[in-house]
Amino acid sequence: MNDQGLPSVITIDGPAASGKSTLGALLARHLGYTYFDTGVLYRALTYLVLQRGIALDDVAAMVRLAHDVDLQVLPATVDDGRQYTVLADGEDITRQLRSQEVERHVSIVSAYPEVRTALRDQQRRIGLQGRVVMVGRDIGSVVMPDADFKIFLLASPEERARRRYNELRAQGQEVSYESVYRDLQRRDALDRHNTLQPADAYVVHTDGLTPTEVVSTLLAMLEQRARTLR
Ligand code: DC
Repeated sequence: MNDQGLPSVITIDGPAASGKSTLGALLARHLGYTYFDTGVLYRALTYLVLQRGIALDDVAAMVRLAHDVDLQVLPATVDDGRQYTVLADGEDITRQLRSQEVERHVSIVSAYPEVRTALRDQQRRIGLQGRVVMVGRDIGSVVMPDADFKIFLLASPEERARRRYNELRAQGQEVSYESVYRDLQRRDALDRHNTLQPADAYVVHTDGLTPTEVVSTLLAMLEQRARTLR
Protein backbone atom coordinates (compact mmCIF):
# COMPACT_ATOMS: atom_id res chain seq x y z
CA MET A 1 0.00 0.00 0.00
CA ASN A 2 1.38 3.47 -0.78
CA ASP A 3 0.53 6.83 0.77
CA GLN A 4 -2.40 7.45 -1.61
CA GLY A 5 -4.01 4.19 -0.55
CA LEU A 6 -3.05 2.53 -3.81
CA PRO A 7 -1.91 -1.10 -3.66
CA SER A 8 1.77 -1.82 -4.15
CA VAL A 9 1.06 -5.00 -6.11
CA ILE A 10 -1.98 -5.60 -8.32
CA THR A 11 -2.47 -9.11 -9.66
CA ILE A 12 -4.58 -10.05 -12.68
CA ASP A 13 -5.20 -13.73 -13.31
CA GLY A 14 -7.48 -15.58 -15.71
CA PRO A 15 -7.53 -18.02 -18.62
CA ALA A 16 -5.93 -17.48 -22.04
CA ALA A 17 -7.40 -14.59 -24.04
CA SER A 18 -9.50 -13.34 -21.12
CA GLY A 19 -8.01 -9.88 -21.69
CA LYS A 20 -5.28 -9.99 -19.03
CA SER A 21 -2.44 -8.51 -21.09
CA THR A 22 -4.45 -5.70 -22.65
CA LEU A 23 -6.01 -4.71 -19.35
CA GLY A 24 -2.84 -5.17 -17.32
CA ALA A 25 -0.88 -2.91 -19.67
CA LEU A 26 -3.64 -0.27 -19.72
CA LEU A 27 -4.07 -0.27 -15.96
CA ALA A 28 -0.31 -0.06 -15.39
CA ARG A 29 -0.09 2.88 -17.79
CA HIS A 30 -2.92 4.72 -15.98
CA LEU A 31 -1.29 4.22 -12.60
CA GLY A 32 2.31 4.74 -13.71
CA TYR A 33 3.13 1.20 -12.56
CA THR A 34 5.38 -1.42 -14.13
CA TYR A 35 3.51 -3.95 -16.26
CA PHE A 36 4.80 -7.50 -15.76
CA ASP A 37 3.34 -10.25 -17.92
CA THR A 38 4.60 -13.36 -16.07
CA GLY A 39 3.75 -15.64 -19.02
CA VAL A 40 6.87 -14.33 -20.76
CA LEU A 41 9.07 -16.18 -18.26
CA TYR A 42 7.37 -19.49 -19.17
CA ARG A 43 7.61 -18.58 -22.84
CA ALA A 44 11.30 -17.63 -22.52
CA LEU A 45 12.14 -20.89 -20.79
CA THR A 46 10.21 -22.86 -23.43
CA TYR A 47 12.05 -21.06 -26.21
CA LEU A 48 15.42 -21.88 -24.62
CA VAL A 49 14.43 -25.52 -23.99
CA LEU A 50 13.55 -25.93 -27.68
CA GLN A 51 16.58 -24.00 -28.89
CA ARG A 52 18.97 -26.10 -26.80
CA GLY A 53 17.33 -29.38 -27.77
CA ILE A 54 16.36 -30.25 -24.19
CA ALA A 55 13.83 -33.11 -24.21
CA LEU A 56 10.33 -32.06 -23.16
CA ASP A 57 10.33 -34.65 -20.39
CA ASP A 58 13.77 -33.78 -19.01
CA VAL A 59 12.48 -31.81 -16.03
CA ALA A 60 15.85 -31.74 -14.26
CA ALA A 61 17.50 -30.05 -17.25
CA MET A 62 14.65 -27.53 -17.49
CA VAL A 63 14.93 -26.65 -13.81
CA ARG A 64 18.72 -26.27 -14.12
CA LEU A 65 18.22 -23.97 -17.06
CA ALA A 66 15.58 -21.93 -15.18
CA HIS A 67 18.06 -21.40 -12.34
CA ASP A 68 21.08 -20.72 -14.52
CA VAL A 69 19.69 -18.36 -17.14
CA ASP A 70 19.50 -14.65 -16.41
CA LEU A 71 16.01 -13.58 -17.57
CA GLN A 72 15.21 -9.89 -17.59
CA VAL A 73 11.97 -8.13 -18.47
CA LEU A 74 12.61 -4.50 -19.37
CA PRO A 75 10.59 -1.61 -20.75
CA ALA A 76 10.47 -1.90 -24.58
CA THR A 77 13.87 -1.13 -26.10
CA VAL A 78 12.68 -1.36 -29.72
CA ASP A 79 9.77 0.56 -31.24
CA ASP A 80 8.05 -2.38 -33.01
CA GLY A 81 4.78 -2.45 -31.11
CA ARG A 82 6.12 -4.61 -28.27
CA GLN A 83 5.07 -3.95 -24.67
CA TYR A 84 8.44 -4.96 -23.17
CA THR A 85 11.80 -6.44 -24.01
CA VAL A 86 12.87 -9.84 -22.72
CA LEU A 87 16.56 -10.69 -22.43
CA ALA A 88 18.01 -14.15 -21.85
CA ASP A 89 21.65 -13.83 -20.78
CA GLY A 90 21.66 -10.45 -22.49
CA GLU A 91 20.19 -11.65 -25.80
CA ASP A 92 16.92 -10.05 -26.97
CA ILE A 93 14.47 -12.95 -27.47
CA THR A 94 11.23 -10.91 -27.35
CA ARG A 95 10.08 -11.67 -30.89
CA GLN A 96 10.67 -15.41 -30.60
CA LEU A 97 8.33 -15.70 -27.59
CA ARG A 98 5.17 -15.55 -29.74
CA SER A 99 6.30 -18.12 -32.33
CA GLN A 100 4.09 -21.11 -33.18
CA GLU A 101 6.73 -23.43 -31.77
CA VAL A 102 6.73 -21.71 -28.38
CA GLU A 103 2.94 -21.38 -28.47
CA ARG A 104 2.60 -25.12 -29.04
CA HIS A 105 4.95 -26.23 -26.26
CA VAL A 106 4.65 -23.67 -23.48
CA SER A 107 1.75 -25.44 -21.74
CA ILE A 108 3.82 -28.62 -21.53
CA VAL A 109 6.81 -26.87 -19.97
CA SER A 110 4.71 -24.79 -17.57
CA ALA A 111 2.77 -27.82 -16.33
CA TYR A 112 5.77 -29.22 -14.40
CA PRO A 113 5.53 -28.22 -10.70
CA GLU A 114 9.36 -28.15 -10.46
CA VAL A 115 9.54 -25.64 -13.32
CA ARG A 116 6.85 -23.51 -11.68
CA THR A 117 8.75 -23.42 -8.40
CA ALA A 118 11.95 -22.39 -10.18
CA LEU A 119 10.20 -19.53 -12.00
CA ARG A 120 8.14 -18.48 -8.97
CA ASP A 121 11.15 -16.97 -7.24
CA GLN A 122 12.06 -14.94 -10.34
CA GLN A 123 8.49 -13.60 -10.49
CA ARG A 124 8.49 -12.73 -6.76
CA ARG A 125 11.77 -10.88 -7.07
CA ILE A 126 10.24 -8.56 -9.66
CA GLY A 127 6.89 -8.27 -7.84
CA LEU A 128 8.46 -7.28 -4.55
CA GLN A 129 9.93 -4.19 -6.19
CA GLY A 130 6.39 -2.79 -5.90
CA ARG A 131 4.23 -0.46 -8.00
CA VAL A 132 3.63 -3.33 -10.34
CA VAL A 133 0.69 -4.91 -12.18
CA MET A 134 1.42 -8.64 -12.46
CA VAL A 135 -0.52 -10.68 -14.98
CA GLY A 136 -0.68 -14.48 -15.11
CA ARG A 137 -2.51 -17.60 -13.98
CA ASP A 138 -1.61 -18.12 -10.32
CA ILE A 139 -0.16 -14.78 -9.27
CA GLY A 140 -2.77 -13.78 -6.68
CA SER A 141 -2.92 -17.30 -5.26
CA VAL A 142 0.60 -18.75 -5.37
CA VAL A 143 3.23 -16.23 -6.48
CA MET A 144 2.06 -13.11 -4.59
CA PRO A 145 -0.61 -14.32 -2.14
CA ASP A 146 -0.14 -11.18 -0.01
CA ALA A 147 -0.87 -8.78 -2.89
CA ASP A 148 -3.33 -6.14 -1.75
CA PHE A 149 -5.50 -5.95 -4.89
CA LYS A 150 -6.37 -9.04 -6.89
CA ILE A 151 -8.45 -9.36 -10.02
CA PHE A 152 -9.65 -12.52 -11.74
CA LEU A 153 -10.92 -12.08 -15.31
CA LEU A 154 -13.54 -14.25 -16.93
CA ALA A 155 -14.93 -14.32 -20.47
CA SER A 156 -16.93 -16.94 -22.37
CA PRO A 157 -14.99 -19.38 -24.60
CA GLU A 158 -16.65 -17.83 -27.68
CA GLU A 159 -15.69 -14.29 -26.74
CA ARG A 160 -12.12 -15.32 -25.97
CA ALA A 161 -11.82 -17.18 -29.28
CA ARG A 162 -13.23 -14.16 -31.13
CA ARG A 163 -10.67 -11.85 -29.47
CA ARG A 164 -7.74 -14.14 -30.20
CA TYR A 165 -8.97 -14.67 -33.79
CA ASN A 166 -9.20 -10.89 -34.42
CA GLU A 167 -5.76 -10.40 -32.88
CA LEU A 168 -4.16 -13.04 -35.12
CA ARG A 169 -5.94 -11.79 -38.26
CA ALA A 170 -4.79 -8.26 -37.48
CA GLN A 171 -1.24 -9.63 -37.42
CA GLY A 172 -1.85 -11.06 -40.89
CA GLN A 173 -2.09 -14.72 -39.81
CA GLU A 174 -4.34 -16.96 -41.92
CA VAL A 175 -6.36 -18.75 -39.24
CA SER A 176 -9.98 -19.85 -39.03
CA TYR A 177 -12.22 -19.07 -36.06
CA GLU A 178 -12.79 -22.81 -35.56
CA SER A 179 -9.07 -23.60 -35.30
CA VAL A 180 -8.53 -20.73 -32.85
CA TYR A 181 -11.47 -21.96 -30.76
CA ARG A 182 -10.08 -25.52 -30.73
CA ASP A 183 -6.58 -24.29 -29.79
CA LEU A 184 -8.00 -22.33 -26.87
CA GLN A 185 -9.94 -25.38 -25.64
CA ARG A 186 -6.72 -27.37 -25.77
CA ARG A 187 -4.81 -24.65 -23.91
CA ASP A 188 -7.56 -24.43 -21.27
CA ALA A 189 -7.35 -28.17 -20.64
CA LEU A 190 -3.56 -28.03 -20.27
CA ASP A 191 -3.52 -24.87 -18.12
CA ARG A 192 -6.53 -25.89 -16.02
CA HIS A 193 -4.64 -26.92 -12.88
CA ASN A 194 -2.51 -23.79 -12.81
CA THR A 195 -5.22 -21.20 -13.44
CA LEU A 196 -6.30 -20.42 -9.91
CA GLN A 197 -8.94 -17.99 -8.75
CA PRO A 198 -7.87 -16.44 -5.43
CA ALA A 199 -10.62 -16.49 -2.79
CA ASP A 200 -10.11 -12.76 -2.17
CA ALA A 201 -10.06 -11.65 -5.84
CA TYR A 202 -12.54 -9.33 -7.52
CA VAL A 203 -14.06 -11.40 -10.32
CA VAL A 204 -14.72 -9.39 -13.47
CA HIS A 205 -16.74 -10.78 -16.41
CA THR A 206 -15.53 -9.01 -19.53
CA ASP A 207 -17.96 -10.32 -22.20
CA GLY A 208 -19.30 -7.46 -24.28
CA LEU A 209 -17.07 -4.86 -22.58
CA THR A 210 -14.27 -2.92 -24.26
CA PRO A 211 -10.86 -2.78 -22.53
CA THR A 212 -11.46 0.90 -21.76
CA GLU A 213 -14.75 0.03 -20.03
CA VAL A 214 -13.11 -2.66 -17.91
CA VAL A 215 -10.21 -0.40 -16.96
CA SER A 216 -12.66 2.35 -15.94
CA THR A 217 -14.41 -0.17 -13.69
CA LEU A 218 -11.10 -1.27 -12.17
CA LEU A 219 -9.96 2.31 -11.59
CA ALA A 220 -13.29 3.09 -9.90
CA MET A 221 -12.84 0.04 -7.66
CA LEU A 222 -9.33 1.18 -6.75
CA GLU A 223 -10.56 4.68 -5.99
CA GLN A 224 -13.40 3.37 -3.84
CA ARG A 225 -11.03 1.13 -1.98
CA ALA A 226 -8.51 3.92 -1.42
CA ARG A 227 -11.29 6.11 0.01
CA THR A 228 -12.31 3.50 2.56
CA LEU A 229 -8.66 3.07 3.60
CA ARG A 230 -7.85 6.78 3.97
O1 DC B 1 -0.44 -15.83 -20.78
P1 DC B 1 0.41 -16.56 -21.81
O2 DC B 1 -0.37 -17.12 -22.95
O3 DC B 1 1.58 -15.77 -22.27
O4 DC B 1 1.01 -17.81 -21.01
C1 DC B 1 1.87 -18.72 -21.60
C2 DC B 1 1.84 -20.04 -20.85
O5 DC B 1 2.42 -19.90 -19.57
C3 DC B 1 0.46 -20.66 -20.66
O6 DC B 1 0.56 -22.02 -21.03
C4 DC B 1 0.19 -20.55 -19.20
C5 DC B 1 1.53 -20.41 -18.58
N1 DC B 1 1.55 -19.49 -17.45
C6 DC B 1 1.45 -20.03 -16.20
O7 DC B 1 1.32 -21.25 -16.08
N2 DC B 1 1.52 -19.23 -15.10
C7 DC B 1 1.65 -17.90 -15.25
N3 DC B 1 1.73 -17.13 -14.16
C8 DC B 1 1.71 -17.33 -16.52
C9 DC B 1 1.65 -18.16 -17.62
